[in-house]
Amino acid sequence: MDRKNKIWYKNAVFYELYVRAFFDSNNDGHGDLRGMTQKLDYLQDLGIDCLWIMPIYPSPLKDDGYDIADYYQILPEYGILDDFKALIDEVHAREMRLIVDLVLNHTSDQHPWFQAARSDKESPYRDYYVWSDTSYKYGDARIIFLDTETSNWTWDEVAGQYYWHRFYSSQPDLNYDNPRVQEEMIKVMQYWLDLGVDGFRADAVPYLFEREGTNCENLPETHAFIKRVRNFLDQNYPGRILLAEANQWPEDVRAYFGDGDEFHMGFHFPVMPRIFMALRKGDRTPIKSILDRTPEIPENCQWCTFLRNHDELTLEMVTEEEREWMWKEYAPDVRMRLNLGIRRRLAPLLDNDQRKIELAYSLLFTLPGSPIIYYGDEIGMGDDVELPDRNGVRTPMQWDSDINAGFSGTDASLLYSPIITHEQYNPQQVSVIKQISLSNSLYNRIRKMIQIRKGMHIFSRGSLEWVEAIPDALAAYWRKNDSEKVLVINNLSNTKQNVIIQVDEPFENIWVELLTERSYESKGGKMRVELEPFEYMWFKNLI
Ligand code: GLC
Ligand code: CA
Repeated sequence: MDRKNKIWYKNAVFYELYVRAFFDSNNDGHGDLRGMTQKLDYLQDLGIDCLWIMPIYPSPLKDDGYDIADYYQILPEYGILDDFKALIDEVHAREMRLIVDLVLNHTSDQHPWFQAARSDKESPYRDYYVWSDTSYKYGDARIIFLDTETSNWTWDEVAGQYYWHRFYSSQPDLNYDNPRVQEEMIKVMQYWLDLGVDGFRADAVPYLFEREGTNCENLPETHAFIKRVRNFLDQNYPGRILLAEANQWPEDVRAYFGDGDEFHMGFHFPVMPRIFMALRKGDRTPIKSILDRTPEIPENCQWCTFLRNHDELTLEMVTEEEREWMWKEYAPDVRMRLNLGIRRRLAPLLDNDQRKIELAYSLLFTLPGSPIIYYGDEIGMGDDVELPDRNGVRTPMQWDSDINAGFSGTDASLLYSPIITHEQYNPQQVSVIKQISLSNSLYNRIRKMIQIRKGMHIFSRGSLEWVEAIPDALAAYWRKNDSEKVLVINNLSNTKQNVIIQVDEPFENIWVELLTERSYESKGGKMRVELEPFEYMWFKNLI
Protein backbone atom coordinates (compact mmCIF):
# COMPACT_ATOMS: atom_id res chain seq x y z
CA MET A 1 0.00 0.00 0.00
CA ASP A 2 1.27 3.43 -0.89
CA ARG A 3 1.67 4.85 2.60
CA LYS A 4 3.06 8.09 1.22
CA ASN A 5 -0.12 8.91 -0.61
CA LYS A 6 -1.86 11.06 1.99
CA ILE A 7 -4.86 11.79 -0.21
CA TRP A 8 -5.58 8.18 -1.16
CA TYR A 9 -9.28 8.61 -0.29
CA LYS A 10 -9.81 11.00 -3.20
CA ASN A 11 -9.58 8.20 -5.72
CA ALA A 12 -10.64 5.24 -3.59
CA VAL A 13 -13.57 2.87 -3.99
CA PHE A 14 -15.17 2.08 -0.64
CA TYR A 15 -17.23 -0.89 0.55
CA GLU A 16 -19.52 -0.90 3.57
CA LEU A 17 -19.49 -4.22 5.35
CA TYR A 18 -21.61 -5.62 8.17
CA VAL A 19 -19.37 -8.14 9.95
CA ARG A 20 -22.29 -10.18 11.33
CA ALA A 21 -23.63 -10.69 7.83
CA PHE A 22 -20.48 -11.45 5.91
CA PHE A 23 -19.05 -14.85 6.76
CA ASP A 24 -19.37 -17.13 9.78
CA SER A 25 -16.03 -18.85 10.44
CA ASN A 26 -17.03 -20.89 13.49
CA ASN A 27 -20.55 -21.93 12.58
CA ASP A 28 -22.40 -20.22 15.40
CA GLY A 29 -24.74 -18.41 13.03
CA HIS A 30 -23.05 -15.01 13.29
CA GLY A 31 -20.54 -13.57 10.88
CA ASP A 32 -17.26 -12.68 12.58
CA LEU A 33 -13.87 -11.03 12.08
CA ARG A 34 -12.13 -14.25 11.10
CA GLY A 35 -14.85 -14.94 8.57
CA MET A 36 -14.47 -11.50 7.08
CA THR A 37 -10.69 -12.01 6.91
CA GLN A 38 -11.23 -15.19 4.90
CA LYS A 39 -13.24 -13.24 2.33
CA LEU A 40 -10.81 -10.40 1.73
CA ASP A 41 -9.64 -11.84 -1.59
CA TYR A 42 -13.16 -11.46 -2.91
CA LEU A 43 -13.16 -7.76 -2.01
CA GLN A 44 -9.70 -7.18 -3.38
CA ASP A 45 -10.70 -8.83 -6.61
CA LEU A 46 -13.72 -6.59 -6.93
CA GLY A 47 -11.32 -3.65 -6.77
CA ILE A 48 -12.18 -2.29 -3.35
CA ASP A 49 -9.65 0.11 -1.80
CA CYS A 50 -11.15 0.76 1.60
CA LEU A 51 -13.57 -1.10 3.82
CA TRP A 52 -15.86 0.52 6.34
CA ILE A 53 -17.11 -1.91 8.95
CA MET A 54 -20.14 -1.21 11.12
CA PRO A 55 -19.54 -1.22 14.92
CA ILE A 56 -17.76 -4.27 16.32
CA TYR A 57 -17.71 -3.28 19.99
CA PRO A 58 -19.44 -4.94 22.96
CA SER A 59 -23.04 -3.84 22.94
CA PRO A 60 -26.51 -4.92 24.08
CA LEU A 61 -27.39 -4.58 20.37
CA LYS A 62 -30.49 -2.45 20.73
CA ASP A 63 -29.24 -0.61 17.64
CA ASP A 64 -27.04 -3.25 16.04
CA GLY A 65 -23.91 -2.11 17.84
CA TYR A 66 -24.42 1.64 17.48
CA ASP A 67 -25.13 1.41 21.21
CA ILE A 68 -21.63 0.83 22.56
CA ALA A 69 -21.02 -0.58 26.04
CA ASP A 70 -17.21 -0.69 25.80
CA TYR A 71 -15.14 1.29 23.31
CA TYR A 72 -12.02 -0.83 23.83
CA GLN A 73 -13.13 -4.39 23.17
CA ILE A 74 -14.67 -6.59 20.50
CA LEU A 75 -18.18 -8.01 20.69
CA PRO A 76 -17.54 -11.67 21.68
CA GLU A 77 -19.58 -13.04 18.75
CA TYR A 78 -17.24 -11.17 16.40
CA GLY A 79 -14.02 -12.45 17.99
CA ILE A 80 -11.19 -11.02 20.05
CA LEU A 81 -8.70 -8.21 19.61
CA ASP A 82 -6.15 -10.55 18.10
CA ASP A 83 -8.65 -11.39 15.37
CA PHE A 84 -9.00 -7.70 14.69
CA LYS A 85 -5.23 -7.24 14.50
CA ALA A 86 -5.00 -10.16 12.09
CA LEU A 87 -7.77 -8.63 10.01
CA ILE A 88 -5.97 -5.30 9.78
CA ASP A 89 -2.74 -7.02 8.75
CA GLU A 90 -4.49 -9.02 6.06
CA VAL A 91 -6.32 -5.95 4.76
CA HIS A 92 -3.05 -4.04 4.52
CA ALA A 93 -1.27 -7.00 2.94
CA ARG A 94 -3.80 -6.72 0.11
CA GLU A 95 -3.14 -3.02 -0.42
CA MET A 96 -6.52 -2.17 1.02
CA ARG A 97 -7.49 0.00 3.96
CA LEU A 98 -10.01 -0.29 6.76
CA ILE A 99 -11.99 2.34 8.63
CA VAL A 100 -14.20 1.68 11.64
CA ASP A 101 -17.30 3.32 13.03
CA LEU A 102 -16.71 5.96 15.65
CA VAL A 103 -19.91 6.54 17.60
CA LEU A 104 -19.25 9.88 19.25
CA ASN A 105 -22.68 11.17 20.05
CA HIS A 106 -23.97 8.55 22.46
CA THR A 107 -23.23 5.35 24.33
CA SER A 108 -25.42 2.44 25.30
CA ASP A 109 -27.34 2.86 28.53
CA GLN A 110 -25.41 -0.26 29.56
CA HIS A 111 -22.08 1.54 29.33
CA PRO A 112 -20.40 1.72 32.78
CA TRP A 113 -20.25 5.53 32.43
CA PHE A 114 -24.02 5.73 32.19
CA GLN A 115 -24.53 3.18 34.93
CA ALA A 116 -22.29 5.22 37.23
CA ALA A 117 -23.89 8.47 36.10
CA ARG A 118 -27.45 7.44 36.77
CA SER A 119 -26.81 5.88 40.16
CA ASP A 120 -24.86 8.70 41.78
CA LYS A 121 -25.38 12.43 41.36
CA GLU A 122 -21.90 13.04 42.73
CA SER A 123 -20.18 10.62 40.37
CA PRO A 124 -17.70 12.27 37.97
CA TYR A 125 -19.60 10.41 35.24
CA ARG A 126 -22.88 12.17 35.96
CA ASP A 127 -21.74 15.07 33.84
CA TYR A 128 -20.77 12.76 30.97
CA TYR A 129 -24.44 12.85 29.97
CA VAL A 130 -27.09 15.51 29.54
CA TRP A 131 -29.66 15.69 32.35
CA SER A 132 -32.68 17.80 33.14
CA ASP A 133 -35.47 17.99 35.72
CA THR A 134 -37.98 18.68 32.98
CA SER A 135 -38.51 17.38 29.46
CA TYR A 136 -38.91 20.87 27.96
CA LYS A 137 -35.33 21.88 27.25
CA TYR A 138 -34.08 22.03 23.65
CA GLY A 139 -37.63 21.85 22.35
CA ASP A 140 -36.58 22.88 18.83
CA ALA A 141 -34.63 19.66 18.27
CA ARG A 142 -36.45 17.23 15.97
CA ILE A 143 -37.00 13.57 16.77
CA ILE A 144 -35.02 11.33 14.41
CA PHE A 145 -36.40 7.85 15.13
CA LEU A 146 -39.96 9.04 14.60
CA ASP A 147 -41.51 5.58 14.43
CA THR A 148 -40.35 4.59 17.93
CA GLU A 149 -39.49 7.67 20.00
CA THR A 150 -41.88 10.36 21.21
CA SER A 151 -39.34 12.64 22.88
CA ASN A 152 -35.61 13.29 23.02
CA TRP A 153 -35.88 13.10 26.82
CA THR A 154 -36.43 9.93 28.85
CA TRP A 155 -37.13 9.80 32.56
CA ASP A 156 -34.62 7.70 34.46
CA GLU A 157 -36.00 6.25 37.71
CA VAL A 158 -32.57 5.56 39.16
CA ALA A 159 -31.21 9.03 38.41
CA GLY A 160 -34.41 10.86 39.27
CA GLN A 161 -33.91 13.04 36.20
CA TYR A 162 -34.53 13.06 32.49
CA TYR A 163 -31.61 12.27 30.13
CA TRP A 164 -31.16 13.51 26.59
CA HIS A 165 -30.98 11.18 23.56
CA ARG A 166 -31.24 11.92 19.84
CA PHE A 167 -31.77 8.27 18.86
CA TYR A 168 -33.24 5.32 20.79
CA SER A 169 -33.83 5.95 24.48
CA SER A 170 -31.30 3.17 25.09
CA GLN A 171 -28.65 5.51 23.59
CA PRO A 172 -28.06 8.42 26.02
CA ASP A 173 -26.20 11.34 24.41
CA LEU A 174 -22.77 12.21 25.74
CA ASN A 175 -22.24 15.72 27.05
CA TYR A 176 -19.59 17.35 24.87
CA ASP A 177 -19.60 20.45 27.04
CA ASN A 178 -17.66 18.33 29.48
CA PRO A 179 -13.96 18.47 28.48
CA ARG A 180 -13.46 15.00 29.94
CA VAL A 181 -15.88 13.53 27.41
CA GLN A 182 -13.89 15.13 24.61
CA GLU A 183 -10.70 13.66 26.07
CA GLU A 184 -12.27 10.20 26.38
CA MET A 185 -13.18 10.16 22.70
CA ILE A 186 -9.75 11.23 21.59
CA LYS A 187 -8.36 8.40 23.72
CA VAL A 188 -10.71 5.95 22.00
CA MET A 189 -9.51 7.15 18.60
CA GLN A 190 -5.89 6.86 19.62
CA TYR A 191 -6.46 3.28 20.74
CA TRP A 192 -7.87 2.13 17.39
CA LEU A 193 -5.37 4.17 15.40
CA ASP A 194 -2.57 2.45 17.28
CA LEU A 195 -4.13 -0.86 16.31
CA GLY A 196 -3.72 0.26 12.72
CA VAL A 197 -7.10 1.46 11.47
CA ASP A 198 -6.95 3.88 8.55
CA GLY A 199 -9.61 6.16 9.89
CA PHE A 200 -13.16 6.50 11.08
CA ARG A 201 -16.65 6.86 9.77
CA ALA A 202 -17.94 9.28 12.38
CA ASP A 203 -21.53 8.50 13.26
CA ALA A 204 -24.25 11.11 13.82
CA VAL A 205 -21.89 14.06 13.83
CA PRO A 206 -24.33 16.99 13.73
CA TYR A 207 -25.76 16.29 17.18
CA LEU A 208 -22.75 16.50 19.53
CA PHE A 209 -23.76 19.72 21.28
CA GLU A 210 -27.07 21.16 22.45
CA ARG A 211 -27.95 24.85 22.67
CA GLU A 212 -31.31 26.36 23.65
CA GLY A 213 -33.05 28.23 20.85
CA THR A 214 -31.39 26.17 18.10
CA ASN A 215 -32.32 22.89 16.42
CA CYS A 216 -29.23 21.45 18.12
CA GLU A 217 -27.61 20.46 14.83
CA ASN A 218 -24.36 21.68 13.20
CA LEU A 219 -23.51 24.02 16.07
CA PRO A 220 -20.25 26.02 16.02
CA GLU A 221 -19.12 24.11 19.10
CA THR A 222 -19.34 20.86 17.11
CA HIS A 223 -17.10 22.29 14.39
CA ALA A 224 -14.60 23.47 17.02
CA PHE A 225 -14.42 19.96 18.49
CA ILE A 226 -13.98 18.37 15.06
CA LYS A 227 -11.12 20.76 14.28
CA ARG A 228 -9.48 19.61 17.48
CA VAL A 229 -9.92 15.96 16.51
CA ARG A 230 -8.54 16.62 13.04
CA ASN A 231 -5.54 18.40 14.41
CA PHE A 232 -4.84 15.44 16.70
CA LEU A 233 -5.05 13.12 13.69
CA ASP A 234 -2.84 15.24 11.44
CA GLN A 235 -0.21 15.66 14.13
CA ASN A 236 0.00 12.01 15.08
CA TYR A 237 -1.46 9.88 12.31
CA PRO A 238 -1.10 11.62 8.95
CA GLY A 239 -2.83 9.77 6.13
CA ARG A 240 -5.67 8.45 8.31
CA ILE A 241 -9.09 9.85 7.58
CA LEU A 242 -12.36 11.07 9.05
CA LEU A 243 -15.58 10.49 7.11
CA ALA A 244 -18.65 12.39 8.32
CA GLU A 245 -22.12 11.00 8.59
CA ALA A 246 -23.93 14.32 8.50
CA ASN A 247 -27.32 13.85 6.90
CA GLN A 248 -27.73 17.50 5.93
CA TRP A 249 -28.13 19.82 2.95
CA PRO A 250 -24.96 20.32 0.87
CA GLU A 251 -24.28 23.80 2.27
CA ASP A 252 -24.44 22.44 5.83
CA VAL A 253 -22.22 19.47 5.04
CA ARG A 254 -19.82 21.89 3.35
CA ALA A 255 -19.13 23.37 6.78
CA TYR A 256 -17.84 19.98 7.98
CA PHE A 257 -14.91 20.24 5.57
CA GLY A 258 -13.92 23.53 7.22
CA ASP A 259 -10.88 25.01 5.53
CA GLY A 260 -9.70 21.49 4.86
CA ASP A 261 -9.17 21.18 8.61
CA GLU A 262 -12.25 19.20 9.70
CA PHE A 263 -13.44 16.06 7.86
CA HIS A 264 -11.54 14.60 4.92
CA MET A 265 -14.78 13.21 3.57
CA GLY A 266 -18.52 13.59 4.02
CA PHE A 267 -21.35 11.48 2.67
CA HIS A 268 -23.38 13.31 0.05
CA PHE A 269 -26.83 12.48 1.41
CA PRO A 270 -29.02 14.72 -0.79
CA VAL A 271 -27.78 13.41 -4.13
CA MET A 272 -28.72 9.83 -3.23
CA PRO A 273 -32.56 10.05 -3.33
CA ARG A 274 -32.29 12.25 -6.40
CA ILE A 275 -30.57 9.48 -8.32
CA PHE A 276 -33.66 7.38 -7.64
CA MET A 277 -35.98 10.25 -8.61
CA ALA A 278 -34.12 10.80 -11.86
CA LEU A 279 -34.25 7.11 -12.70
CA ARG A 280 -37.99 6.87 -12.08
CA LYS A 281 -38.84 10.09 -13.88
CA GLY A 282 -36.44 9.54 -16.75
CA ASP A 283 -35.22 13.08 -16.16
CA ARG A 284 -31.79 14.36 -15.13
CA THR A 285 -33.13 17.51 -13.44
CA PRO A 286 -33.14 16.25 -9.81
CA ILE A 287 -29.48 15.21 -9.99
CA LYS A 288 -28.35 18.27 -11.86
CA SER A 289 -30.11 20.71 -9.52
CA ILE A 290 -28.65 19.23 -6.34
CA LEU A 291 -25.15 19.14 -7.80
CA ASP A 292 -25.56 22.73 -9.05
CA ARG A 293 -26.39 23.64 -5.48
CA THR A 294 -23.42 21.71 -4.03
CA PRO A 295 -20.62 24.09 -3.05
CA GLU A 296 -16.99 23.57 -3.96
CA ILE A 297 -15.00 21.79 -1.28
CA PRO A 298 -11.34 22.27 -0.31
CA GLU A 299 -8.73 20.55 -2.47
CA ASN A 300 -7.83 17.94 0.18
CA CYS A 301 -11.46 16.89 0.74
CA GLN A 302 -13.80 14.51 -1.02
CA TRP A 303 -17.50 13.63 -1.11
CA CYS A 304 -18.46 10.05 -0.46
CA THR A 305 -21.36 9.03 -2.69
CA PHE A 306 -23.62 6.03 -2.24
CA LEU A 307 -26.80 4.41 -3.50
CA ARG A 308 -27.75 2.43 -0.40
CA ASN A 309 -26.40 1.71 3.06
CA HIS A 310 -27.33 -0.22 6.20
CA ASP A 311 -30.03 2.28 7.18
CA GLU A 312 -33.30 3.16 5.53
CA LEU A 313 -32.97 5.09 2.25
CA THR A 314 -33.33 8.40 3.99
CA LEU A 315 -35.73 11.00 2.67
CA GLU A 316 -34.78 13.75 5.08
CA MET A 317 -33.00 15.84 2.46
CA VAL A 318 -35.98 16.21 0.09
CA THR A 319 -39.13 18.34 0.18
CA GLU A 320 -42.33 16.91 1.68
CA GLU A 321 -43.81 16.61 -1.76
CA GLU A 322 -40.81 14.73 -3.07
CA ARG A 323 -40.91 12.44 -0.05
CA GLU A 324 -44.56 11.52 -0.69
CA TRP A 325 -43.70 10.86 -4.32
CA MET A 326 -40.71 8.68 -3.43
CA TRP A 327 -42.82 6.69 -0.96
CA LYS A 328 -45.54 6.22 -3.54
CA GLU A 329 -43.09 5.11 -6.21
CA TYR A 330 -40.57 3.10 -4.21
CA ALA A 331 -42.42 2.01 -1.06
CA PRO A 332 -46.01 1.29 -2.11
CA ASP A 333 -46.35 -1.23 0.73
CA VAL A 334 -46.28 0.68 4.04
CA ARG A 335 -44.09 -2.01 5.55
CA MET A 336 -41.33 -0.75 3.26
CA ARG A 337 -41.33 2.61 5.07
CA LEU A 338 -39.38 3.46 8.19
CA ASN A 339 -39.10 6.84 9.92
CA LEU A 340 -38.56 9.28 7.01
CA GLY A 341 -37.27 6.64 4.64
CA ILE A 342 -37.52 3.37 2.76
CA ARG A 343 -36.11 0.14 4.13
CA ARG A 344 -35.31 -1.66 0.90
CA ARG A 345 -32.20 -2.74 -0.98
CA LEU A 346 -30.96 -1.47 -4.31
CA ALA A 347 -32.00 -4.34 -6.57
CA PRO A 348 -35.64 -4.54 -5.41
CA LEU A 349 -35.90 -0.73 -5.53
CA LEU A 350 -34.89 -0.84 -9.18
CA ASP A 351 -37.28 -3.69 -10.09
CA ASN A 352 -34.40 -6.16 -10.23
CA ASP A 353 -33.75 -4.73 -13.68
CA GLN A 354 -30.05 -5.07 -14.33
CA ARG A 355 -30.12 -2.23 -16.84
CA LYS A 356 -31.38 0.21 -14.20
CA ILE A 357 -29.06 -1.08 -11.48
CA GLU A 358 -26.02 -0.73 -13.73
CA LEU A 359 -27.17 2.73 -14.75
CA ALA A 360 -27.36 3.76 -11.09
CA TYR A 361 -23.78 2.54 -10.67
CA SER A 362 -22.72 4.35 -13.83
CA LEU A 363 -23.91 7.58 -12.20
CA LEU A 364 -22.27 6.67 -8.90
CA PHE A 365 -18.91 5.91 -10.48
CA THR A 366 -18.74 8.91 -12.80
CA LEU A 367 -20.21 11.81 -10.83
CA PRO A 368 -17.90 13.68 -8.41
CA GLY A 369 -16.95 11.93 -5.18
CA SER A 370 -15.58 8.60 -4.03
CA PRO A 371 -18.21 5.87 -4.29
CA ILE A 372 -19.12 3.38 -1.59
CA ILE A 373 -20.87 0.09 -2.27
CA TYR A 374 -23.10 -1.53 0.34
CA TYR A 375 -22.29 -5.22 0.83
CA GLY A 376 -24.46 -7.48 -1.28
CA ASP A 377 -25.60 -4.72 -3.63
CA GLU A 378 -22.81 -5.64 -6.02
CA ILE A 379 -24.52 -8.98 -6.61
CA GLY A 380 -28.06 -7.59 -6.54
CA MET A 381 -29.19 -9.02 -3.22
CA GLY A 382 -32.82 -8.69 -2.14
CA ASP A 383 -34.37 -7.61 1.15
CA ASP A 384 -36.95 -8.92 3.61
CA VAL A 385 -39.67 -6.51 4.72
CA GLU A 386 -40.97 -9.05 7.22
CA LEU A 387 -37.96 -8.38 9.44
CA PRO A 388 -38.25 -5.43 11.85
CA ASP A 389 -36.44 -2.08 11.77
CA ARG A 390 -33.51 -2.09 9.28
CA ASN A 391 -32.82 -5.82 9.64
CA GLY A 392 -34.36 -6.58 6.27
CA VAL A 393 -31.39 -5.00 4.49
CA ARG A 394 -28.82 -6.68 6.77
CA THR A 395 -29.37 -10.36 5.91
CA PRO A 396 -26.52 -12.85 5.34
CA MET A 397 -24.27 -12.39 2.33
CA GLN A 398 -25.15 -14.93 -0.36
CA TRP A 399 -21.94 -16.67 -1.41
CA ASP A 400 -23.40 -19.71 -3.18
CA SER A 401 -26.51 -21.86 -3.31
CA ASP A 402 -25.29 -24.34 -0.70
CA ILE A 403 -26.60 -24.59 2.84
CA ASN A 404 -27.29 -21.11 4.30
CA ALA A 405 -26.11 -19.51 1.08
CA GLY A 406 -22.54 -20.49 1.94
CA PHE A 407 -22.59 -17.95 4.76
CA SER A 408 -22.55 -20.43 7.66
CA GLY A 409 -22.46 -24.17 8.21
CA THR A 410 -24.77 -24.06 11.19
CA ASP A 411 -28.37 -25.12 11.58
CA ALA A 412 -30.62 -22.59 9.82
CA SER A 413 -32.51 -21.96 13.06
CA LEU A 414 -29.30 -20.62 14.64
CA LEU A 415 -28.60 -17.96 12.00
CA TYR A 416 -28.72 -14.39 13.31
CA SER A 417 -31.14 -13.68 10.46
CA PRO A 418 -32.95 -15.79 7.90
CA ILE A 419 -31.48 -16.01 4.41
CA ILE A 420 -33.57 -14.33 1.71
CA THR A 421 -36.07 -16.85 0.32
CA HIS A 422 -37.89 -14.60 -2.18
CA GLU A 423 -38.26 -16.34 -5.55
CA GLN A 424 -36.18 -13.75 -7.40
CA TYR A 425 -33.53 -13.16 -4.76
CA ASN A 426 -32.88 -16.52 -3.08
CA PRO A 427 -29.34 -17.96 -3.24
CA GLN A 428 -30.21 -20.08 -6.29
CA GLN A 429 -30.89 -16.85 -8.15
CA VAL A 430 -28.48 -14.46 -6.47
CA SER A 431 -25.04 -15.48 -5.23
CA VAL A 432 -21.42 -14.45 -5.52
CA ILE A 433 -20.43 -17.66 -7.27
CA LYS A 434 -23.14 -17.30 -9.89
CA GLN A 435 -22.42 -13.62 -10.46
CA ILE A 436 -18.72 -14.26 -10.91
CA SER A 437 -19.33 -17.03 -13.42
CA LEU A 438 -21.63 -15.04 -15.74
CA SER A 439 -19.59 -12.67 -17.87
CA ASN A 440 -22.28 -10.01 -18.18
CA SER A 441 -23.51 -10.19 -14.61
CA LEU A 442 -24.04 -7.12 -12.48
CA TYR A 443 -20.98 -8.05 -10.44
CA ASN A 444 -18.75 -8.27 -13.52
CA ARG A 445 -20.06 -5.01 -14.93
CA ILE A 446 -19.41 -3.25 -11.64
CA ARG A 447 -15.96 -4.76 -11.46
CA LYS A 448 -15.21 -3.43 -14.91
CA MET A 449 -16.51 0.04 -14.04
CA ILE A 450 -14.28 0.05 -10.95
CA GLN A 451 -11.22 -0.96 -12.97
CA ILE A 452 -11.78 1.83 -15.46
CA ARG A 453 -12.46 4.39 -12.78
CA LYS A 454 -9.41 3.51 -10.77
CA GLY A 455 -7.13 4.00 -13.72
CA MET A 456 -8.43 7.52 -14.31
CA HIS A 457 -8.11 10.23 -11.71
CA ILE A 458 -10.38 12.35 -13.82
CA PHE A 459 -13.42 10.79 -12.14
CA SER A 460 -12.27 11.70 -8.67
CA ARG A 461 -10.66 15.06 -9.33
CA GLY A 462 -11.83 16.35 -12.67
CA SER A 463 -14.36 19.13 -13.12
CA LEU A 464 -17.99 18.44 -13.96
CA GLU A 465 -19.71 20.13 -16.91
CA TRP A 466 -23.22 19.21 -17.99
CA VAL A 467 -24.24 18.84 -21.62
CA GLU A 468 -27.38 20.96 -21.70
CA ALA A 469 -28.79 21.06 -25.22
CA ILE A 470 -30.13 17.51 -25.23
CA PRO A 471 -33.33 15.87 -23.96
CA ASP A 472 -33.85 15.75 -20.18
CA ALA A 473 -33.89 11.95 -20.38
CA LEU A 474 -30.13 12.05 -20.80
CA ALA A 475 -27.74 12.77 -17.98
CA ALA A 476 -24.65 13.65 -19.99
CA TYR A 477 -21.63 15.40 -18.59
CA TRP A 478 -17.96 16.00 -19.09
CA ARG A 479 -15.33 15.17 -16.55
CA LYS A 480 -12.21 17.16 -17.38
CA ASN A 481 -8.76 17.86 -16.09
CA ASP A 482 -5.67 19.39 -17.65
CA SER A 483 -4.74 16.35 -19.71
CA GLU A 484 -7.93 14.37 -20.30
CA LYS A 485 -11.62 14.59 -20.89
CA VAL A 486 -14.32 11.98 -20.61
CA LEU A 487 -17.90 12.31 -21.77
CA VAL A 488 -20.44 10.25 -19.84
CA ILE A 489 -23.92 9.72 -21.25
CA ASN A 490 -26.64 8.00 -19.21
CA ASN A 491 -30.02 7.29 -20.72
CA LEU A 492 -32.36 7.58 -17.75
CA SER A 493 -35.43 6.69 -19.78
CA ASN A 494 -37.15 3.61 -21.02
CA THR A 495 -36.97 4.76 -24.63
CA LYS A 496 -34.27 4.70 -27.22
CA GLN A 497 -32.38 7.98 -27.51
CA ASN A 498 -30.69 9.25 -30.59
CA VAL A 499 -28.60 12.37 -30.03
CA ILE A 500 -25.97 14.49 -31.62
CA ILE A 501 -23.54 15.98 -29.16
CA GLN A 502 -21.08 18.76 -29.76
CA VAL A 503 -17.88 17.12 -28.55
CA ASP A 504 -15.08 19.11 -30.02
CA GLU A 505 -13.82 21.88 -32.19
CA PRO A 506 -15.20 21.37 -35.71
CA PHE A 507 -12.86 18.63 -36.88
CA GLU A 508 -12.86 14.85 -37.01
CA ASN A 509 -11.91 12.75 -34.07
CA ILE A 510 -12.01 9.22 -32.71
CA TRP A 511 -13.60 8.37 -29.37
CA VAL A 512 -13.41 5.15 -27.42
CA GLU A 513 -16.32 3.94 -25.36
CA LEU A 514 -14.47 2.67 -22.30
CA LEU A 515 -16.84 -0.10 -21.22
CA THR A 516 -17.15 -1.80 -24.60
CA GLU A 517 -13.86 -0.56 -26.06
CA ARG A 518 -15.74 0.34 -29.26
CA SER A 519 -14.64 3.33 -31.33
CA TYR A 520 -16.88 6.19 -32.37
CA GLU A 521 -16.18 8.97 -34.82
CA SER A 522 -17.03 12.60 -34.49
CA LYS A 523 -17.37 14.71 -37.61
CA GLY A 524 -17.24 18.47 -37.68
CA GLY A 525 -16.95 18.31 -33.90
CA LYS A 526 -20.24 16.45 -33.57
CA MET A 527 -20.82 12.87 -32.50
CA ARG A 528 -23.99 10.92 -33.07
CA VAL A 529 -24.86 8.48 -30.29
CA GLU A 530 -27.70 6.01 -30.03
CA LEU A 531 -28.58 4.68 -26.61
CA GLU A 532 -30.87 1.81 -25.74
CA PRO A 533 -33.28 2.27 -22.81
CA PHE A 534 -31.21 2.73 -19.61
CA GLU A 535 -27.96 2.41 -21.51
CA TYR A 536 -24.84 4.34 -20.43
CA MET A 537 -21.61 5.10 -22.20
CA TRP A 538 -18.28 6.58 -21.11
CA PHE A 539 -16.29 8.16 -23.99
CA LYS A 540 -12.66 9.06 -23.96
CA ASN A 541 -10.79 10.95 -26.60
CA LEU A 542 -7.96 9.05 -28.25
CA ILE A 543 -5.94 12.03 -29.39
C1 GLC B 1 -26.36 6.44 12.41
C2 GLC B 1 -26.28 4.99 11.97
C3 GLC B 1 -27.53 4.28 12.34
C4 GLC B 1 -27.72 4.38 13.85
C5 GLC B 1 -27.70 5.84 14.30
C6 GLC B 1 -27.60 5.95 15.79
O1 GLC B 1 -27.34 7.13 11.74
O2 GLC B 1 -26.06 4.93 10.58
O3 GLC B 1 -27.52 2.95 11.93
O4 GLC B 1 -28.94 3.80 14.21
O5 GLC B 1 -26.57 6.51 13.80
O6 GLC B 1 -26.31 5.56 16.22
CA1 CA C 1 -19.35 -16.90 13.99
